Amino acid sequence: MKKHILAIDQGTTSSRAIIFDGDQKIVAVAQKEFTQIYPKSGWVEHDPEEIWDSVRWAIGEALAKAGLEAKNIAAIGITNQRETAILWDRKTGKPIHNAIVWQDRRTASVCEKLRKAGHERMVSRKTGLLLDPYFSATKIGWVLDKVRGARRRAEAGELAFGTVDSFLIWRLTGGHRHLTDATNACRTLLFDIGAHRWDDRLLALFGVPAALLPEVKDCADDFGETDPDLFGAAIPIRGVAGDQHAASIGQACFMPGMIKSTYGTGCFAVLNTGETLVRSKNRLLTTIAYRLDGKTIYALEGSIFVAGAAVQWLRDGLGIVKAASETGPLARSSDPEQQVYLVPAFVGLGAPWWDADARGAIYGLTRNSGPAEIARAALESVSYQTRDLLDAMHRDWKQAGGETVLRVDGGMVASDWTMQFLADILDAPVDRPTVLETTALGAAWLAGQAVGAWPDAETFAARWARDRRFEPQMDAKTRKAKLNGWRDAVRRTLSH
Ligand code: G3P
Repeated sequence: MKKHILAIDQGTTSSRAIIFDGDQKIVAVAQKEFTQIYPKSGWVEHDPEEIWDSVRWAIGEALAKAGLEAKNIAAIGITNQRETAILWDRKTGKPIHNAIVWQDRRTASVCEKLRKAGHERMVSRKTGLLLDPYFSATKIGWVLDKVRGARRRAEAGELAFGTVDSFLIWRLTGGHRHLTDATNACRTLLFDIGAHRWDDRLLALFGVPAALLPEVKDCADDFGETDPDLFGAAIPIRGVAGDQHAASIGQACFMPGMIKSTYGTGCFAVLNTGETLVRSKNRLLTTIAYRLDGKTIYALEGSIFVAGAAVQWLRDGLGIVKAASETGPLARSSDPEQQVYLVPAFVGLGAPWWDADARGAIYGLTRNSGPAEIARAALESVSYQTRDLLDAMHRDWKQAGGETVLRVDGGMVASDWTMQFLADILDAPVDRPTVLETTALGAAWLAGQAVGAWPDAETFAARWARDRRFEPQMDAKTRKAKLNGWRDAVRRTLSH
């Protein structure tokens, strides 16, 4: 029986294809970065064709590196940057506009207007989300209003909308399937997470014609087969989940109370709340952790927009490091006496502040501050923000109090220094798994178990292994002083 699974991890800054063998071991990885388009301040776009080319290339490259052919792959699992909105022509498959990326703030005023008109309660009750430009609905509305004839064509059923998973499924199946999964659907502001369907009232509120929408499936389901012309043989697509949901699965956070935090472009902490749909009183999101065999498992999520993106800014914006990996050593060389705080509100602030208009700031600079202190402040900001999220989670979910162990993954967790600081600031242990590719692993597991090639959830969870546990070492007084400094910096940065 075929056991190899190919995971497509279509992230915010790069597309990756990762092939796992039947023992969930990585046999090949291929990765391609693509262009970030910033047409105006606070706007972020991607070219969907470039995304598609990068995915196609990565799949071919991973197969070649593994010495495998398409016919040897048991199934594909897709995981993706969420919320990013693409609209395309159903006939030609051509996008009618660049993808509007999740970080994009261009619809902040639309959200503000809807909030002022008193719609947020209804929207939150149905979707578990908030009125923020982060989510897809207002991005879809923007494209329909700006591209000539788009609204009329959407109503006539000539156009399709999808998050990136949906667009990739369309392309991979040669335009035969227009599908998404419950985790991606629940990030659009159009999906009722209790009733499990697209919601007419939400569609009317955001002016989104129903004819645009994909069918919503479980995370492990039949998403069609790849067009044999693409890779030489048809490969079944059997798993789909938004990247943060896939990471929760890859971290085996299957039990209520388990938390993972992924440090990619942004940082996203997800707390499994089981079959209970917990409504946050602390500005966290209620989201679908995953849906399997028609059963929905919910989660509370804290979303931070800038984590690894701050390191990227040190490299590409300030030019104070040549490679991201230089950041840790540079931060370590900083003067410990200086208290410099970076609030990385480059695209506003996410949970629990939800301030679309805030912009980044640095506090506490002295004549002696330099690249090392700024690098340290950038890394530390990630830990402070995680602490804000976990505090909000504890308030919302009593069971998570006390014995929280955070499972971490994503590029930044390779740095021991950053992880130690995280444990220190959280005052809780931080577990780093042996497999850091948890997002891809989660998507692969969905597909692998769907085709019977991989173990069930219990066996998979039992195989989760820790590389290292970071225990808090900082004394309480120092932690308190640092947290006070951070909170003061955030207060000064908020726009209201
Ligand atoms: O909600 C946005 C998120 O899915 C993006 O994830 O890994 O590209 O930072 P990442």
